[in-house]
Amino acid sequence: MILNQEQLSFFKANGYLIIPKILDSVLCKKARDLLWSSLPKEANINREDPSTHIGPFTEKDLKQDVTNLRQGYKWQLRSIGTNQLMIDLVYSETLQQIAEDLLGKDTLVKPKVGGKTMGQHGAAWPGGPVDPALDNEGSRGIYATLPYGGKEKEPDYCHTDGHPFNLSLVGLIDDVLPNGGAFKVWPGSHKRLYPTFQMQYDQPRIAYYEHLPFYKGIIQSEAYEEEIKKVLEDTEPVDCCGSEGDVIFWHHRLAHMAGHNYSNKMRLAVLGDFIKKDLDENRAKTPQKNMWLDWSDHLNNAPETYSEEMAKLQKLID
Ligand SMILES: [Fe+2]
Repeated sequence: MILNQEQLSFFKANGYLIIPKILDSVLCKKARDLLWSSLPKEANINREDPSTHIGPFTEKDLKQDVTNLRQGYKWQLRSIGTNQLMIDLVYSETLQQIAEDLLGKDTLVKPKVGGKTMGQHGAAWPGGPVDPALDNEGSRGIYATLPYGGKEKEPDYCHTDGHPFNLSLVGLIDDVLPNGGAFKVWPGSHKRLYPTFQMQYDQPRIAYYEHLPFYKGIIQSEAYEEEIKKVLEDTEPVDCCGSEGDVIFWHHRLAHMAGHNYSNKMRLAVLGDFIKKDLDENRAKTPQKNMWLDWSDHLNNAPETYSEEMAKLQKLID
């Protein structure tokens, strides 16, 4: 076991767990190099000149390709999601072991070096979302958020992800300042939202037809819509800012958002999901009475109590 009792308890109660400085710093640097090397030579945005990092991307630097997207304030390099570096970084022995502490030993699908990557399948519809579970055999890739600069402040909007998975992680590959777009979570929302889904790990959706474009995508239950609205109103989100190497593990039904970047520094993160070998059998089942049925015995047996010190370490309280 890598996780201790308190960490298990905190995850169970809050749906997220920050593990500080767990990514290899040499690999973090290589991942940053990889992102910058994906730019054309003539790009306006320049690694050495932070003033050019302020978003949105200039017309010249825009890229519509969902495997390497540069749009507005978002830069999402997905095409490298299964290369050796990304697998070593996002699915290191330690990170896989932590995922097993939560989900059970030898229960996880292994990532495939050189495997298919997110976005190869294209977006669900023109300009629509890309499904992280479609043809993806490794990490989701490197996700950057450019500083908002003088952009007007925007309200937070939380969501849950639509694709089937058990557990996910966001890894910071560079320091991220407070309000710097690291990753924002709504603690405890996993327990409130889980029962509002029609299916444990999946969601019904309307297919997209080019000649019938009005209805498309995920259908949320009314109970879900009501509950997530309440979550947004009554729960103080946690800004998981931090240092290079910090990782945030999060439950598949946790409300979250990437976070607005009001800092002057680009947010650089790697994303990856963990799925269990039995996800396909279980994804369409209704939510279970024990929402931890598919999780490890350690987690099932953990009480939902933890120290004040733990809550501080996890940025839940000041
Ligand atoms: Fe999301």
